[in-house]
Amino acid sequence: YKRITTKTLVDMKKKGEKISMLTAYDFTMAKIVDGSGVDVILVGDSASNVMAGHETTLPITLDQMIYHASSVVRAIERSLVVVDIPFGSYQSDPKEALRSAIRIMKESGGHAVKLEGGKEIKESVKRILNAGIPVMGHLGLTPQSIYKFGTYTVRAKEDAEAEKLKADAKLLEKIGCFAIVLEKVPAKLAAEVAKELTIPIIGIGAGNGVDGQVLVTHDMVGMTHEFNPRFLRRYLDLYAEMTGAFKKYIDDVKSGDFPSDKEQY
Ligand code: KIV
Ligand code: NA
Repeated sequence: YKRITTKTLVDMKKKGEKISMLTAYDFTMAKIVDGSGVDVILVGDSASNVMAGHETTLPITLDQMIYHASSVVRAIERSLVVVDIPFGSYQSDPKEALRSAIRIMKESGGHAVKLEGGKEIKESVKRILNAGIPVMGHLGLTPQSIYKFGTYTVRAKEDAEAEKLKADAKLLEKIGCFAIVLEKVPAKLAAEVAKELTIPIIGIGAGNGVDGQVLVTHDMVGMTHEFNPRFLRRYLDLYAEMTGAFKKYIDDVKSGDFPSDKEQY
């Protein structure tokens, strides 16, 4: 695929081709991720944790999300760029939700938005879709509601919650979402949802029976290292690599080894 669109993703599901998705919040990282051939880049509100050091995703603002997203968009050539609408800029009413989505599309150049929730935000999702803005859903563990649940543990383990999740997923498909992220739910449930829906289900901690996977890039390359959930596969230990490089640099500066004759004018 030359350029990934929301339609490409639905076609990929039809063909049984899995979808790869990673986060990026800045130009330099987005260039590497896009250049590697990842299908979808998520400008996640996890930037609140990863970039700004907040404990939750709640504090990040719409302006900050637009700054991150516009930096990402300038770097990409192929990936579809999905931007999280942050907490507090869509929950009040559908008009506010649409205004926020429009700001993201106009000011960042992103290709789609993502919102957390099902039935509760149905009217907002409809309104955004009616304006021609593609929407990705997000069900299961929804970090913007952390204070309602109190923990980041696995969601929808009980039947009632699993049924609500299934109903929400079907509703999001019915009103026109092009994909749904399922975060931290039992693999069996996620596989059932993926099987019953025609739009792609992208999992994080949702097992292998879904249509694609997403991870936070800084976690999977090991730049962060305090966060160790079971679902996280680390492909690099950049924390150690970078610490080693910084220590070497410090030594070289202190010893006078850097810069050498060749590294000066
Ligand atoms: O903000 C984020 O990074 C996300 C993914 C974990 C799906 O929403
Ligand atoms: Na998010």
